[in-house]
Amino acid sequence: MQNFDYMTPTRLIFGKGVISKLPEVMSGYGKKVLLTYGGGSIKKIGLYDKVKELLADREIFELSGIQPNPKYDPSVLDGVRICKENNIDVILAVGGGSVLDCSKAIAAGAKYDGDPWDLISYKVKAEDALPIVDIITLAATGSEYDCGGVISRTETNDKIGYMDEHLYPAVSFLDPTYTFTVPDKQTAAGCADAMNHIMEQYFCEDSTLLNDGFMEVGLKSLMVNVKKCLENPEDYTARAEMMLDCTYGCNAIYALGNSDSGWPCHGMEHALSAYYDITHGEGLAIITPRWMKHILNENTVSRFVKYGVNVFGIDSTLDKFEIANKAIDATYSFFESIGIPMHLKDVGIDESRINEMAHHVAVNEGLENAWAPLREEDIAEIFRASL
Ligand code: NZQ
Ligand code: ZN
Repeated sequence: MQNFDYMTPTRLIFGKGVISKLPEVMSGYGKKVLLTYGGGSIKKIGLYDKVKELLADREIFELSGIQPNPKYDPSVLDGVRICKENNIDVILAVGGGSVLDCSKAIAAGAKYDGDPWDLISYKVKAEDALPIVDIITLAATGSEYDCGGVISRTETNDKIGYMDEHLYPAVSFLDPTYTFTVPDKQTAAGCADAMNHIMEQYFCEDSTLLNDGFMEVGLKSLMVNVKKCLENPEDYTARAEMMLDCTYGCNAIYALGNSDSGWPCHGMEHALSAYYDITHGEGLAIITPRWMKHILNENTVSRFVKYGVNVFGIDSTLDKFEIANKAIDATYSFFESIGIPMHLKDVGIDESRINEMAHHVAVNEGLENAWAPLREEDIAEIFRASL
């Protein structure tokens, strides 16, 4: 078991109608609010109007149009400019992970005199950030309970996971009813994202019995609840369970004391969505079973046996490689069963830039140090097998 130093300072306020606490929460952070949101879903579900009504006594500035795979230019740059020009006190992010991630980068950039990319690219360490409150409307990333934000820079094909302890949201509102309108495609992709967050922590050298148990149940809960959400998008209990499953997924609580896996599927997927702007969870679902097949060997097989037996109920008396292969096939079939396109060509990616992307990942993601080390040629092979 490894040493760790762990704290999550985020206050979670969970459940139906909890938005009524918004005025009380926001009163702790000053008068000037930057309200950030995406392409309009929050207007369709009435949340925009509700927020404006509840914060009628605040001075509200707005940054809208934050896209999935949020962009440095214009969204982060515009947000930083609005904060600086207007002495914003607090950011209120309302939407999915992309809105919240973008808001985290803005929060750090607003307190920094130079180019915000210095912070995102880890050239400079943030010394401070504006406080962030969020109302999350999509169960997926866990950004509401972690200190990371993933930002894309189109002209360089970079998609960087920017982590800093200043970026934990101060308060996250989680009302499952806001996720009733999430389309099937995003519900399924959100499940795949959260499942992969767990797998990235599960497949490692050193894990504890406790963590394995948490993670195996986390995976099972996601698989059961996503199906209920897809069958009946307004199933409150299923949406609520899935929301919390996702919130836990990326905050490291599942892996306290574990060794680091290197998060290989995320490293590879970030290149796919940087080059082709695809949906993150779909990219992960496509890569994951191919990565599993690629790294399965005598050194890694025991983790796959545990995963197969405890998550999918595969017969533990079978040969270990048979269990592992059945587990990988079950992973693929599950993603397929929730409607995820399972080939890169289905999401508009062909052979043409595979070598370039593999090189980008090899140079930028450090996967040669992952639990199952990946060199540039391994990454290219995994991409090709995913076509
Ligand atoms: O833009 P709007 O109109 O709001 O529509 C969004 C968007 O089109 C829509 N949506 C959100 N809530 C909705 C809704 N539609 C109907 N009803 C609702 N209640 O869903 C679409 C996708 O939204 P997005 O925020 O992009 O999805 P998600 O939450 O999956 O976030 C994905 C981003 O997060 C990053 C990903 O790489 C990607 O950029 N990640 C962030 C992480 C983190 N901060 O810890 C970890 C993850 O590994 C991930 O990399
Ligand atoms: Zn993810």
